Amino acid sequence: MGNAHEIKAAGNDNGIESRIRDLLERMTLEQKIGQLNQVQAWGDNIVESLAPAIRAGRVGSVINIVDPNVINALQHIAVHESEHGIPLLIARDVIHGYHTVAPLPIGQAASWNPEVVRACARLAAQEASAFGVNWTFAPMIDISRDPRWGRIAESLGEDPYLTGVMGAAMIEGFQVSETGGADTLVACAKHFAGYGASEAGRDYNTTNIPENELRNVYLPPFFAAVEAGVGTFMTSFSDIDGIPATASDFLLDQVLRKEWSFDGAVVSDWDSIHQLVVHGFSENDVEATYEAASAGVEIDMIGGVYERHLPELVHQGRISMDRIDALVGNVLRVKLRAGLMDRDVTQLPPEPARMTALNLARQAAQQSLVLLRNEGGTLPLNAEALSSIAVIGALADEPAEQLGTWVFDGDAERSVTPLAALTSMLDGQVALHHVRGLETTRSKDTSGFDTALHAAEQSDAVVLFIGEEAILSGEAHCRADITLPGVQEDLVRHLREAGKPVVGVILAGRPLALGGIVDAFDALIYAWHPGTMGGPAIADTLFGRVAPSGKLPVSFPTMSGQVPIYYGYKQTGRPATPDTVIHIDEIPAAATQTSLGMTTFHLDAGYEPLFPFGYGLSYTNFAYTDLALDRHHIRMGESVVAEITLTNTGEVAGTEVVQLYIRDRFASLTRPIRELKRFERVTLEPGESRRVRFELHTDDLAFFRRNKTYGAEPGAFDLWIGGDSTTDLGTEFHIDA
Ligand code: BGC
Repeated sequence: MGNAHEIKAAGNDNGIESRIRDLLERMTLEQKIGQLNQVQAWGDNIVESLAPAIRAGRVGSVINIVDPNVINALQHIAVHESEHGIPLLIARDVIHGYHTVAPLPIGQAASWNPEVVRACARLAAQEASAFGVNWTFAPMIDISRDPRWGRIAESLGEDPYLTGVMGAAMIEGFQVSETGGADTLVACAKHFAGYGASEAGRDYNTTNIPENELRNVYLPPFFAAVEAGVGTFMTSFSDIDGIPATASDFLLDQVLRKEWSFDGAVVSDWDSIHQLVVHGFSENDVEATYEAASAGVEIDMIGGVYERHLPELVHQGRISMDRIDALVGNVLRVKLRAGLMDRDVTQLPPEPARMTALNLARQAAQQSLVLLRNEGGTLPLNAEALSSIAVIGALADEPAEQLGTWVFDGDAERSVTPLAALTSMLDGQVALHHVRGLETTRSKDTSGFDTALHAAEQSDAVVLFIGEEAILSGEAHCRADITLPGVQEDLVRHLREAGKPVVGVILAGRPLALGGIVDAFDALIYAWHPGTMGGPAIADTLFGRVAPSGKLPVSFPTMSGQVPIYYGYKQTGRPATPDTVIHIDEIPAAATQTSLGMTTFHLDAGYEPLFPFGYGLSYTNFAYTDLALDRHHIRMGESVVAEITLTNTGEVAGTEVVQLYIRDRFASLTRPIRELKRFERVTLEPGESRRVRFELHTDDLAFFRRNKTYGAEPGAFDLWIGGDSTTDLGTEFHIDA
């Protein structure tokens, strides 16, 4: 991770700094504080109720106002009726789409395709900006290693590198436009920082993250966001080391401003400045205001405490005018860089073409699907060979549920469900017997089971759409037991009695602990919440119009008690190996404490996940051969080039995500047993081979070290290349001292 001098000071572009200085000289204290104030409003009289404050310059931004006529009326007042004519930031959570919804971020991450992720963000920006929105609270780049935490749905998974690459792609998609800028959104890297470590996977909970872990695991994606030019940051609701993130001068001042030279704006999370009082950190809102403003929070999201208390803090001399100017300058810089002060913000760009949007949503959904199991080539299904299919489950035909969490503006009427897509694809050629079996995924009423079984008996194959509704993940929607909700496992077992091939399609916002139920499926696709075009993408995949190419961006536990479980764990002094692990059912009666392995594992779950990070099957197979390095010794500042031959050894074309992992064998701090460093999607025809090449510089091996500096350390490194995080095709190289 770089230091301040490594990042280009972007401050003096296009006269922006002098325009900021000029404005600050002319603004009153009240107008300055207005730029730090974000408000919400609802009902029929939004314009009337906000007009006086906007006219007086007491509002810099609004949230959750979505009527473009209202937005334009507010912008008109800000630009033409307020003294300095500064437009408003119009904020909305455009997380994985606006009207057209792409897969959940966790599903997008499963594509391992930054291009498609960038394109989805671009589309979301085009759709949202057409309705007046100019600021989104995405990407969410919290490292998420605990699937109990409902917000894992919004995350890009467990890995710092993958999250950094995908987060940067989203930022570029939101912020960068070929057509000039009116169709962009300012992006927001959130939640800074450590929110994903909420204890017990319970949302908003406290976190315990030592500085080594913080800097080596949680912060790298945020640094990648700064490098990608993200306009804003949002603080986390959680506390870390006893200090709520919204008041953390360490995070906001030391790391973000001083070390990373970030010069955009930081927004609090929803009312999180006031919540410093609730945390038991600040005695009252005045002190909370003091703490947040001193640490470096620019914008108070809907709390109103900056507006109420900053004036007195300035008059008392506790907050200096220089500090106010620095905060306001950062907000003005965001507005200036986004071009808001150089165009007519009431001229809204056109909506993108509906067909283009749907095609992209379909492609993204196809690439987000992960094939977890495919016994005996059950998939793809062959429409010629089947006369009927039973389509069963609570999620086969739920247009809203397949969109997932955070879809305030998602248009469920655009959704094409799996049932609808199969119906139109098969067009009567294969009969479909649709039975829900269960009212909801969490219902316990088994009275529909026999009808479902009857449908299965009448059909040549069963396709089950199970998992979790959108409401079971997302903010504040955490679960302690992350098995399939309700009696869905019983339904699966019941349907097996029909003796037909059973294909499972799981729609969910988190990795579920599937345990032994996996064996009840002949084939299993993990579809996350796949968005508007989830149905066609699933139908395309079931019938082999596309081959699955997604790979897990997060490890899947066998059972809930294993979490957190992730591939980049530490070796420990007593690593488990297959021959040291014993299962509770196999402990002999005469066993003693020391006869039981004495390594790091669970007696009932071993030490491995059910499916590892990076895992995913296709309809073809890939062989990895001839791993070679250009050299095995490098010096600090040099690179090593690794190459591998990838061959499609199967019968159909397919796409493989080639992954490169390293291990720093000895270091001044214990290092993960594997770290993803590079990946590439490669599409090959049957029989085709390609040499895939990766270059790794010693900077790619840098980490936050025992002496509290960043850098690589000399010594031996393992390097592996393969199709998931357990690949054993490896070699080694050295950084010579
Ligand atoms: C969430 C943020 C979100 C904000 C605004 C909060 O509750 O934590 O992620 O951007 O609300 O809706």
